[in-house]
Amino acid sequence: MLKLSRKREVSRSSNALLFCREWLNAPLLVGAVAPSSLALGTAITKGIDVASAPVIELGPGTGVFTSALLASGIPQDRLALVETSEKFSSILAARYPGVAIIRSDADRLRHITPFGGNGAGAIVCGLPLMSMTRAKVMRIVSNGFSALRPGGVFRLFSYMPVCPVSGNTLDRLGLAANKEAFVPANVPPACVYTLQRKDELL
Ligand SMILES: C[S@@+](CC[C@H](N)C(=O)[O-])C[C@H]1O[C@@H](n2cnc3c(N)ncnc32)[C@H](O)[C@@H]1O
Repeated sequence: MLKLSRKREVSRSSNALLFCREWLNAPLLVGAVAPSSLALGTAITKGIDVASAPVIELGPGTGVFTSALLASGIPQDRLALVETSEKFSSILAARYPGVAIIRSDADRLRHITPFGGNGAGAIVCGLPLMSMTRAKVMRIVSNGFSALRPGGVFRLFSYMPVCPVSGNTLDRLGLAANKEAFVPANVPPACVYTLQRKDELL
């Protein structure tokens, strides 16, 4: 037991170190100095289970949300990760051998189709949307919804108490945002949001 928690501790510190190095290389792209907490991983994946498969994760970094998705029952071969960083991609490939790792910009999701014609039931987004232009956020969200089947949800988080997708972008795409959780146990504290198609709301 002691050995296992020591192992987790070592793995958490090496993730933190690696993350910080990547942030120093590309601060705007990485968008955070440390990986998200397990608490944020749990909050952002809440309610996403095997019935949501296949699932797509955008900007997985060192895999905090990936581990939470696998722990909640998403089969490895029904999960695809889209990541731009070469370093993070190779770490993810070694850590999650059965999961599809796609080294690409998330705004190209419409052209990637990781599961062919099968729309995903959920997208979990770890991208630093607040440091992106509105046009880029629009492309990421719009292409994300083109990869989601009817009823699919797009989960994201923000370090600000506002949804990182502007009201104007939501209106243009016919989407609604709902705040799901505030997670104080994260550095910095974060809010989790769900985006859904407006015409699918009850
Ligand atoms: C704030 S970090 C979050 C990492 C991880 N999800 C977490 O919460 O610990 C943002 C991640 O998105 C990746 N990223 C940034 N822009 C991207 C883009 N346009 N397409 C795909 N990945 C991107 C970065 O390389 C980094 O891994």
